[in-house]
Amino acid sequence: MPKLKIIVGTTRPTRVADQVAPWVASVAAAHGSFDVEVLDLRDWPLPFFSEHFGTLGDMNDPTYSEPLVKAWNAAIKGADAYIVVTSEYNHSVPGVLKNAIDTVWASNAFRNKPVAAVGYSAGIGGGIRAIEHLAQIVVETEAVPLRNSVVIPFAHDAFDDTGRPTSPVTHAALDVLLDDLAWWSAALEQARTAGELPPGRARLRDAIDKARAAASPVA
Ligand SMILES: Cc1cc2nc3c(=O)[nH]c(=O)nc-3n(C[C@H](O)[C@H](O)[C@H](O)COP(=O)(O)O)c2cc1C
Repeated sequence: MPKLKIIVGTTRPTRVADQVAPWVASVAAAHGSFDVEVLDLRDWPLPFFSEHFGTLGDMNDPTYSEPLVKAWNAAIKGADAYIVVTSEYNHSVPGVLKNAIDTVWASNAFRNKPVAAVGYSAGIGGGIRAIEHLAQIVVETEAVPLRNSVVIPFAHDAFDDTGRPTSPVTHAALDVLLDDLAWWSAALEQARTAGELPPGRARLRDAIDKARAAASPVA
């Protein structure tokens, strides 16, 4: 069964993520398409990104600056699909979440896998601007951001005493998201098995090297 990892993108005490993420995880498990694991960034106190080619060592099995960074890269790489649960901080994703994504810089861990978002906020925007930014961010990792997402406005009041969202639209949106994620997960797994191109930036570097060599041939 495909592995779905749910990344919980805020860490502060009293966070509303503690209402959103358990609901997402329980509905995802009940969907029946995935083995579900929650990656709560509170459990992953990653350093501010500080990797460089000296900390990577062997590119095929990088050491990184700390064992936790190596473990985080392995945790992300070992998934077939992702849901990112993100609040909106100043019209974008929380810094701790951006840092966690930047930290998989060298492993191509998200590459050719689908990423869906569940956004929430205290205001009427429901995290929509964070979701839009997230799509821009993960596309650089060569992940596949999905169109259908969950948007939860006024998040402090969006769940009842049993932990379920009070709006039926919220639940319906998560079902749509999970159906899409299962479809994309299967399609991209098949495509990865058939064979992947090397990462785009490596192919571009090779093309530039070849063009430079052709422009200045050694006599
Ligand atoms: C640093 C910061 C920036 C915020 N910026 C926004 C914002 O741009 N738009 C919005 O609707 N809510 C914003 N909020 C309110 C959050 O959506 C709300 O506090 C939410 O509960 C935060 O998620 P969390 O509780 O999981 O940390 C901001 C909150 C914080 C702490």
